[in-house]
Amino acid sequence: MQKIGVIQGDGIGPEVIGEARKVLDVACERNGTSLDFEEFPLGATHYLKTGEVLSDETVSRLEEKDAILLGAMGDPRVKPGVLEKGVLLRLRFHFDQYVNLRPVQLFDGVPCPLAGNDRKVDMFFVRENTEDFYVGLGGRVGRGKSRAELDLVRKAYEAKFDVGIDLKGEDELAYQIGVITKGGADRVVDFAFKLAKEKRMDLVTSVDKANVLTDVYGLWREAVERASKKHGIAKEFLYVDAVALHMVRNPERFKALVTPNLFGDILTDLGAALQGGLGFAPSGNINPEGISMFEPVHGSAPDIAGKGLANPVGAILSAALMLQTLGHVKAAEEIERAVRDVLAGRKHMTTDAGGRTSTSAMGDAVASGLRAL
Ligand code: NAD
Ligand code: IPM
Ligand code: MN
Repeated sequence: MQKIGVIQGDGIGPEVIGEARKVLDVACERNGTSLDFEEFPLGATHYLKTGEVLSDETVSRLEEKDAILLGAMGDPRVKPGVLEKGVLLRLRFHFDQYVNLRPVQLFDGVPCPLAGNDRKVDMFFVRENTEDFYVGLGGRVGRGKSRAELDLVRKAYEAKFDVGIDLKGEDELAYQIGVITKGGADRVVDFAFKLAKEKRMDLVTSVDKANVLTDVYGLWREAVERASKKHGIAKEFLYVDAVALHMVRNPERFKALVTPNLFGDILTDLGAALQGGLGFAPSGNINPEGISMFEPVHGSAPDIAGKGLANPVGAILSAALMLQTLGHVKAAEEIERAVRDVLAGRKHMTTDAGGRTSTSAMGDAVASGLRAL
């Protein structure tokens, strides 16, 4: 039996994962699949009670799982980054989940914020997930440092980079380094082209900022050139600022996109807005040879937590993506179909998309839609 580690996490995490579990149970029952779930109570409450973010022992227990299903991390009571980096990013890195697959699809019945009826938003992002500005290489200089020490730093920077850094008086300096490796770029770009080929697409859009960040994204482009040749699929290079523009003006032009980590983070929130809101967007942190972790794109949404207002569709579709990755393709397709039917019916819509349906009523609607297939 395949084993799933469940991390409901913070804020609306438990609410949306509750609905995903409800739907998973029905999908598995219909398809004679049984999954063994184990809950891991990680997140703000656990941290504030025990002082522990994520123990090595918990990581070892997660290593025994076939997949992980996660709600969201982050809580206003905890300093930004402690839980997000300490749990979410640590797991993505530990399990080397180098692909962050984020489909962006506007379902029939869901209002799109763009002008014009009948907008066709249907693309997928392959976001690099273990490199770029997420590697955690950074530091701050100057806090409590003397003028002489700051002068030393300034001189070293100026000598190395041929740029002047103006450190005045008791000024401080912070830096964060983005890293792209050839191997790291090749493997994720290759995944994107392979997926495009499977989906019979003829173009992959590569996102970067190679006009300014010439080193990291110069290397990135070379990986895209190689994969394009290898798979016989055309590529286009667009700068991230222009991609943002085109996504709003003409999202229909995009089908398959591959992007470095940070730009992928930002553009997939924009993508979520195009598909009707963050609550609709699913994602999978994938290691094709290892343990993958599935989670909605959204965060813990403290502003609506505990009110039954969260849209559980992104979490439900993330669970479907998990089933698909675990080989239960029919069960996954059934969940997607049930979601599609419920949304197209326009009877059930959560408040983020202009409706009045509660989180659990939305989960119930998908579960009963699934039973009725
Ligand atoms: P957020 O995604 O939590 O919320 C942004 C906005 O979207 C809020 O107005 C929220 O109410 C709304 N929203 C989000 N999900 C929704 C849903 N399912 N249904 C209806 N509305 C929804 O982003 P934020 O406010 O920037 O961050 C809150 C916390 O979550 C922070 O601690 C942040 O670091 C964390 N975060 C975690 C993840 C993750 O665990 N994957 C992702 C993003 C943010
Ligand atoms: C996401 C989130 C995370 C990211 C944060 C919470 C670390 O925004 O999954 O999109 O930046 O990847
Ligand atoms: Mn994000």
